[in-house]
Amino acid sequence: MDIPWWRDAIVYEIYVRSFADASGDGVGDLAGVRERLPYLRRLGVDAIWLTPFYPSPMADGGYDVANYRGVDPLFGTLADFESLVEQAHEHGLRVLVDIVPNHSSSEHPWFQAALRGERRDRYIFRDTTNNWQSTFGGPAWTKVADGQYYLHLFAPGQPDFNWRNPEVHAEFLDILRFWLDRGVDGFRIDVAMGLYKAEGLPDVGDQSFKSVSPVWGQPEVHNVYRDWRRLLNGYPGERMAVGEVWTDSSEDLALYVRPDELHQSFNFAWLQAPWSPTAFKKVIDDTLASVPFATWVLSNHDVVRHRTRYGTADPGTGLARARAALLTMLALPGSAYLYQGEELGLPEVTDLPDEARQDPVFFQSKGKLPGRDGCRVPIPWTVDPPSHGFSPGGVEPWLPQPATFAELSVEKQEGDAGSTLEFYRQALACRRDLVGTIPYTLEWLDSPEGVLFFSRGPLTCAINCGLQPVHLPEHDTVLLSSGPLKGDLLPPDTAAWLMTS
Ligand code: GLC
Repeated sequence: MDIPWWRDAIVYEIYVRSFADASGDGVGDLAGVRERLPYLRRLGVDAIWLTPFYPSPMADGGYDVANYRGVDPLFGTLADFESLVEQAHEHGLRVLVDIVPNHSSSEHPWFQAALRGERRDRYIFRDTTNNWQSTFGGPAWTKVADGQYYLHLFAPGQPDFNWRNPEVHAEFLDILRFWLDRGVDGFRIDVAMGLYKAEGLPDVGDQSFKSVSPVWGQPEVHNVYRDWRRLLNGYPGERMAVGEVWTDSSEDLALYVRPDELHQSFNFAWLQAPWSPTAFKKVIDDTLASVPFATWVLSNHDVVRHRTRYGTADPGTGLARARAALLTMLALPGSAYLYQGEELGLPEVTDLPDEARQDPVFFQSKGKLPGRDGCRVPIPWTVDPPSHGFSPGGVEPWLPQPATFAELSVEKQEGDAGSTLEFYRQALACRRDLVGTIPYTLEWLDSPEGVLFFSRGPLTCAINCGLQPVHLPEHDTVLLSSGPLKGDLLPPDTAAWLMTS
C-alpha cells in the first residue's frame, strides 16, 4: 500500500500573528513566515499549518473571518500567500490553512445583510433564546436592533452559520476550491464538531464537549465532510483535512476519521492527559484501538504550553518532562502536530499585564480566566530586546515578551548541543530516518511502576514518569535521550529511544 504523506507527518502550527514580523508593525505576517522557511526545513518538519490570515476585525485573533477569499493587510497580500506556498513547496514543506466554517465575523457581508433584516436564514436568528452559553463565557445569544437574537457559540463578533441552509454548503465548497486552486495541501477545520445544532435548539444541562449534546457533534455534520472529501479527492497531490474535534471519547473522534470523511482529527486526549504513565497508556491504547490514522499533539494556540502544564514548583522539571513527552510522542504510530515555540521550550507567559491581553476569553469571563494570550507571545529569534528579533528595528511586539525569552531565543540555542532546539532537530531527524523502517503497530513491554516501555520493531521507547531511576530495558544502542542518562539508568522525567537488532 502506498503510504499517504500525512500518515506520519510532522506538522508545525504557525500562529501567524506571533511567528515572525517582516513588515515592522509588531504583528507577525506571511512574509515573516516566508523568511523563516529555511529554519523550519532545518527543524525537520514536513508541513506547516497557518492559523487564519483572512480579512478580519480580529475579535478572536482572526478566527472571525470577514472575507474567506483574501488576506488581511495586517498579514500581507494574496501575492504574499502565493509566494509563501510556492517557496514552502520548494523547501519540501506542505502547507495547510485554517478553515472556519462554524461562524463568520459579524462584519462578513452576509451578516451585515442579516443585520439589515435581509437573508437571516444563513445564520441562526430567533425571537427567543435558550440557555446556551458562549464557550468564551456569557450567553451565546446577542440581541439585534429589531429585538431578534442571533446565536454565537464563541464571541458576539462570531455569529454561527446555519448549516441547514444549502447555500452555506455551496459557499464553503467554493471557498475550499479557492485555496486548493492556490496550491494548499490541506485544511485544518476549526470547531469541526460544531456546525450543526440540534433541531429546536433545546436547553442543555452541561455544555462541555460531549459526543452526545444538542450543541456539538450532530450526526448531520458528517455529510459535510463527505462532500469535502470528494472535493479533496478530485485534486491531485493527496490533499487532506484535519478536524478540530473536541469530544469525550476516542470512538466519537473516530467517526470523523473515515475513508470517506476527514483524513485526521486532533487527538486532544493526549494533550489533556496529566503527567502519569497510566493516563498516557490509556490514551495511547484507546487511540490506536479506535482511530485508523492517529495524531498526537501536546500544545497549540488554545491551551497552556505543555512545559508549564507538566511543571511543578521547579521550572526545570516542566522542561525535562516536556522533552520526555515529545520523545514519547514522536515514537508513537501516526502523525504529530507541534506548536511554534515548543522547540525552544517556551513556557506559558503567566504574568502578562491585563492591559496587554487581547483574548476574548479574558474579556468575556470578566477577567476571571486569563485567556490564551500566554501561549501566543511572539517567538524570540534573537537575544536582544525590544522584540528579540521578532520585528525588525526597535518595534515592540503586539504582546510583551518576558526577559527570560532572551535565554530561550533561537540565537542562544542554535549550536548548543544541550539545548531544546537542538534536541528537537535531532529527534525529528532520527524519526525521519526511522519512520519508514518500523511497523505502524506498537507493543507494550513489561516495565516497573511509574514507567512505560513500548517497542515498534527494533525501536524501543522508555519514559520514566516515576520518582526513582530505573534500569533501561534490553537494547543494543541508545539512539537518543531527552536528558542525560546515568549509565544504564533512566532518571525520572526522562525518555530514551533504544535500538535492538
Ligand atoms: C477554535 C480555535 C480557537 C478559536 C475558536 C473559535 O477552537 O482554535 O482559537 O477561538 O475555534 O473560532
